[in-house]
Amino acid sequence: MTDPIRYEDLDLVNTKKMFQKAMEGKFAVPAYNFNNMEQLQAIVTGCAESDSPVILQVSGSARQYADPTMMPHMVKGAVAMVRKAGSKIPIALHLDHGNSFELAKDCIDSGFSSVMIDGSHLSFEENVRLTKEVVDYAHTMGVTVEGELGVLAGVEDEVSSETSHYTRPEEVQAFVEKTGADSLAISIGTSHGAHKFKLKPGEQPPSLRFDILEEIEQRLPGYPIVLHGASSVSPEHVAMINQYGGNLESAVGIPADQLRRAAKSAVCKINIDSDGRLAMTAVIRKVFSESPAEFDPRKYLGPARDELISLIKDKNKNVLGSAGKM
Ligand code: 13P
Repeated sequence: MTDPIRYEDLDLVNTKKMFQKAMEGKFAVPAYNFNNMEQLQAIVTGCAESDSPVILQVSGSARQYADPTMMPHMVKGAVAMVRKAGSKIPIALHLDHGNSFELAKDCIDSGFSSVMIDGSHLSFEENVRLTKEVVDYAHTMGVTVEGELGVLAGVEDEVSSETSHYTRPEEVQAFVEKTGADSLAISIGTSHGAHKFKLKPGEQPPSLRFDILEEIEQRLPGYPIVLHGASSVSPEHVAMINQYGGNLESAVGIPADQLRRAAKSAVCKINIDSDGRLAMTAVIRKVFSESPAEFDPRKYLGPARDELISLIKDKNKNVLGSAGKM
C-alpha cells in the first residue's frame, strides 16, 4: 500500500470554481484527453498560452497505458512546467468514464481532483446507487464528481454503444438530488469517435437537440452540464490523413457553431479527444511520407505536438470561449 496522493499537492484544483466561472461567463471549460507526454505537454502549453482553465482528462485505459503510478508524477511535472513559465491557469485532473467505485477511489487516492462515474448503461436506480457511492467518498476528499444520464453512440477507449438515447429531462432533478453529483453529462446528439454521423454526399450533420438542453436547464437552474463526444473532426486533418496513406472515409463531427452555442448555455465542460488524435496522426503521417528515412521520434512527435498546441489554442478562443477566462 502506497500513501495516497492529494490533488492539492500536485497544484491541481477540483472543478467547482471552474464551473461557477464558466456558468457566469457563458463559456465552457475544455476537457482534453491524453495518454502520453506529448499530448499532456501540448494541452497545458496550449491552455497556458491562451490563459484558459483546463481539465486534463484520462480514461481508465489511458491511465493504464501511461501507468497509474506514473500518471500523477507526469501531471505534477506538466503543471510545474507551465508554472515555471509564469502561468497561473487552474488545472484539474479528471477520470473520464469511470466504470466502478474501485477505479474512481483509486484515482481519487492517486491525485485526481475530479472523477466521472458513468452508470448511464445501468437502470436509473442502479446508476443513482453507484454515483452516490462515488460522490460520498469523493466529497470527503474535496474531489468533484460527474455523473451521466442518457447514452451516446460511438466508440472510444472503453466506452462503446451502437445506439444512443437522449437524456430524459424528467429524470435529471431526481438524479442530481439523490446522488449529490457536481455536474451531469447528457446526451443531446453528440457521439464518441471520428465517425459521428452517416451522411449522404452534400448532407449537413443534424442539429444537436437544444430543446432537450433547454428543458434540462429549466429543471436544474445554474447546474453545470457536460457534453461528451464533442470533437468537430477537422476536414483538413481527415484530408491530410487520407492524403498520406490513411483511410478515414466519412469521418464527420459536431459543427463548431453548435458547440459555441452550447458553450454559452449551462454546458460548462466540453470533452475533446478525437480532434487531438486526428491532428497528431495527420502530422505524423505527413512526416513519415515526406521523410521516409526519419526515425527520430522527436522529428515526428515534435511537429505533432505543435499541431495539437495550435488546435487547442484555436478551440479555446473560437469554440469554447475559455481563452482569457482563467
Ligand atoms: P470525441 O470522441 O468527440 O473527442 O469525444 C471525447 C469524449 O467525449 C471523451 O469522453
